[in-house]
Amino acid sequence: MTKTFFIATWGCQMNDLDSQRLSGSLKLRGYRRVDDETKADLILLNTCSIRDKAEQKVFSHLGRLRELKQQRDGLRIGVCGCVAQQEGEAIRRRAPWVDFVMGPGNVGYLDEVLDGARSIAIDFPEDRRYDYLTVDRPSATKAQVTIIEGCNKNCTFCIVPTTRGREVSRPFDDVLHEARAAVESGRVEIELLGQTVNAYRCPASGGDFGALLAAVAEIAGVARLRFMTSHPAEVNDSMIAAMRDHANISRYLHLPVQSGSSKVLRRMKRLYTRERYLETIARIRAAIPEIHFSTDVIVGFPGETEEDFAETLSLVEEVRYGSMFAFKYSPRPGTPALKLGGAVDDDVASERLTRLFALHERIKQEQFESYRGRVLDVLVEGASKHDPAMFAGRTDDNHVVNFTAKGHAVPGSMLGVRIDAAQHHTLRGEALV
Ligand code: 5AD
Repeated sequence: MTKTFFIATWGCQMNDLDSQRLSGSLKLRGYRRVDDETKADLILLNTCSIRDKAEQKVFSHLGRLRELKQQRDGLRIGVCGCVAQQEGEAIRRRAPWVDFVMGPGNVGYLDEVLDGARSIAIDFPEDRRYDYLTVDRPSATKAQVTIIEGCNKNCTFCIVPTTRGREVSRPFDDVLHEARAAVESGRVEIELLGQTVNAYRCPASGGDFGALLAAVAEIAGVARLRFMTSHPAEVNDSMIAAMRDHANISRYLHLPVQSGSSKVLRRMKRLYTRERYLETIARIRAAIPEIHFSTDVIVGFPGETEEDFAETLSLVEEVRYGSMFAFKYSPRPGTPALKLGGAVDDDVASERLTRLFALHERIKQEQFESYRGRVLDVLVEGASKHDPAMFAGRTDDNHVVNFTAKGHAVPGSMLGVRIDAAQHHTLRGEALV
């Protein structure tokens, strides 16, 4: 009988893509995917440790699996991802019913782990292995492609250098092959992924991120090209020029600022000041006036005063981000920020987060209002989740649009959609054709 597997995924796009890779290699081995973990022969938890909450979710899920492991003969449980990397062997001390622990560097080595050759795989092999033809892509229109893994920055709050290791860029040609294969399989949208995509350097040619962006944008059939995440200190002219010169590269840039206070940024070791960040934004806007930005913010970082936080508010107001992801600071094991004094009270941090979200909500609603009556390019993804008589797609700046169309809106096609209403998180409209 075919074996079955279940994967739960937490965290970022890189983790999502790792799950797609794990799923693809299991299917190649003859496994069938199931959505009900109680029916699975193999359960993989692909975990996130960016904040403490994410990590706790994993352990509470593991707690629930204890009984299942006793009930189901032959059930194997694997912990993958960043908690696996961070905790290693300790996971099996805490949850002895776990069969194996596999970090993000070993996604290409699942075979060895499943065969029992290694049950704790938390090294970072030189050769990361990307079998891109077996990636189990959930979307028929979009493909994510890793271009660089790991991070060489040392932001004092961040666990990523521990969980994903030092930066390793994939060769230019490998990325192009994968992107071409994705386009040939019908994916018209490509998203290049990395913890710091714009630190990319081809190990063979030395080509930088701008050169790679241009090359992927020039593949025939790429209707839209996105990328995540860029570090503000790595933005350069080559990247900006590639975006400016290729209309199919989204006029949308996720550029995490983390804080609007130069003092806090220094303590975070972000490698830029408030002024430098704003100059970078201005430089990009000068080249690409229609660009939209999104960002990540941490509130309540150790030492953050009310004045520092007010600088974050004013920066968010000034840049007018279309999307914003904001979090309370969460102390992570082994990170340098643990040694900084000036812990911010949890109530104070919560209250700041609420104010920040309220400000951003106002900015976003104003932006949504400005879209009303305008025709936006929407890449069709399929039927709308809310109303099967409608279609859903995304704007260039990554907002979901639910829309009506006279005929059938083909997934993967780009349509002009007149926006007629702005809802809380989504737009509504009517296709011109
Ligand atoms: N606490 C809170 N937020 C964090 N992030 C990263 N590390 C932490 C932490 N220790 C946030 C940053 C980053 C996003 C992915 O997660 O804003 O950009």
